[in-house]
Amino acid sequence: MSKVVVMDHPLIKHKIGIMRRKNTSTKEFRDLVSEVAMLICYEATRELPLTDIEIETPLVKTIAQEIEGKKLCIVPILRAGLHMADGILNLIPNAKVGHIGLYRNEETLEPVEYFCKLPVDASEREIFVVDPMLATGGSASAAITLLKEKGISKIHFLCLIAAPEGVKRLSQAHPDVDIFIGSLDERLNEHGYILPGLGDAGDRIYGTK
Ligand code: PRP
Ligand code: URA
Repeated sequence: MSKVVVMDHPLIKHKIGIMRRKNTSTKEFRDLVSEVAMLICYEATRELPLTDIEIETPLVKTIAQEIEGKKLCIVPILRAGLHMADGILNLIPNAKVGHIGLYRNEETLEPVEYFCKLPVDASEREIFVVDPMLATGGSASAAITLLKEKGISKIHFLCLIAAPEGVKRLSQAHPDVDIFIGSLDERLNEHGYILPGLGDAGDRIYGTK
């Protein structure tokens, strides 16, 4: 089964608490998506392999460490994943970025794909798929299936809020994918929204409702 890591850092809890409030402004919400994504990324990259390299400080030669190969790629699921990717790029500015466009059919709740553009060497990279919400798990599972069909195997999934139903579906579909979660919430409602959740992440980021 997938490794599932739920964040317990006070900064993440505090910031997600602000995001949940219905009166939080679009700008503040958008900024918090980036900030929390950055904090989750800090945890999700903890096991990246390092290589020793010789460098010179102003005083002496010494051995420093750098992330092996710098072969990282962030893949936001459109739309709402875009602002998570922006936050993560502050930490990993050399990462490449791929995009997967999916939306949930509001009746079936199943994902519909409309866009996929990845770096040409994506299959050689360690991939971080990002989407603020893991609800039924349909979108994340479909996005990762798409990546695997393109020969990509080293995949991690990062989200801000998850429902237990989504974690179960994703880890059953892709047991090799680690899942990093800002907050594991209680359940889905009858419309597939996470409770207590924060509402529709895309609409809150872009002010579309
Ligand atoms: C939201 C969210 C996820 C998906 C999660 O996107 O950003 O992609 O729903 O739901 P699931 O786990 O049940 O698949 P939405 O389909 O609303 O599209 P949007 O980002 O364009 O608003
Ligand atoms: N997508 C969202 O944006 N929010 C939810 O609660 C569920 C799916």
